[in-house]
Amino acid sequence: MIRSVVQGCGAYLPERLVTNEELARTVETSDEWIQQRTGIRQRHIAAEGEFTSHLATRAADRALAHAGIAASDVDLVVLATATPDETFPATATRVQAALGMTKGAAFDLQAVCAGFVYGLSVADSLLKSGMASTALVIGAETFSRILDWEDRGTCVLFGDGAGAVVLRAEQGQGTAADRGILANALHSDGQLHDILYVDGGPSSTRTTGFLRMEGKEVFKHAVVNMAAVVGEVLGKAGLTAADIDWLVPHQANRRIIDGTGRKLGLPPEKVVVTVDKHANTSAASIPLALDTAVKDGRIKRGDLCLLEGIGGGMAWGASLLRW
Ligand code: UT7
Repeated sequence: MIRSVVQGCGAYLPERLVTNEELARTVETSDEWIQQRTGIRQRHIAAEGEFTSHLATRAADRALAHAGIAASDVDLVVLATATPDETFPATATRVQAALGMTKGAAFDLQAVCAGFVYGLSVADSLLKSGMASTALVIGAETFSRILDWEDRGTCVLFGDGAGAVVLRAEQGQGTAADRGILANALHSDGQLHDILYVDGGPSSTRTTGFLRMEGKEVFKHAVVNMAAVVGEVLGKAGLTAADIDWLVPHQANRRIIDGTGRKLGLPPEKVVVTVDKHANTSAASIPLALDTAVKDGRIKRGDLCLLEGIGGGMAWGASLLRW
């Protein structure tokens, strides 16, 4: 049986750090409110002229170096983003060119904060079907460009960044002891459009628009759907929460992350949290968290990692993988 095995990971954050205190100088908010409600202390913001493709390319470069794989060996680039450089072509093709790749396929995937688990699932299917052999799955965003900086209810919550993994098709035994992706689960519910969306787009308004969110509603759906999808993906792999070494959740809000960890009965030490340092980086948040825990030595070869995310759409999903 073919398994999509992670060969390496990488991440990139723009240089500029913006603290809660700094934001409190321009909108009516406070470090205390932001930390209490979300756990966020700071976020990175892309520089003028620094685009999603630039962040994605830096993260991809680092992932390839970590994997010891040349860009010329990659035959699939899946870039999860809701903030592409341009309406078209796919930002993934910019990354492909920047990496010097001339073969294979590169495309963007749009599932907002669930984008990385959607990307993993799509790449896993393409590797398993033999369509590709080595894939870069990237989550990269410049959400600072779609924030209404006068709306304190949203502008304090997000940041920019990118993360990537390299997957390679390898032979496995078909058991839960295999390394690689063991199971994926994806969902969406378009009826929930109005609670989290961007009020612009090429077809509707010919503008880029700004992010709009009913935070409390999103919060409720996040808690319920995360618990359900996590159970689903564990069930598919024939595993239980007790088998999980690391929960690597989407980093939107510390309270949602802690709630999911508690529901799974996981001690806090097994939950990777980066929302304090990166804020919500949408599709980039899971690979940024993953990279943090791999590079600081927490996640080791053979560890069982549960990745989960939810965002606009609403779209949500989970991936279970053995590192
Ligand atoms: O990545 C996609 C998934 N997104 C999420 O998962 C986000 C989910 N939602 C959340 O994380 C939370 O709902 C928020 C952090 C967005 C908001 O927290 P909340 O506890 O739901 O607060 P709230 O929206 O009910 O607002 C409470 C109060 C309001 O004032 P009143 O009406 O009680 O007087 C807001 O106007 O806090 C006020 N408020 C703020 N105050 C200071 C809202 N934003 C701010 C702010 N600073 N930045």
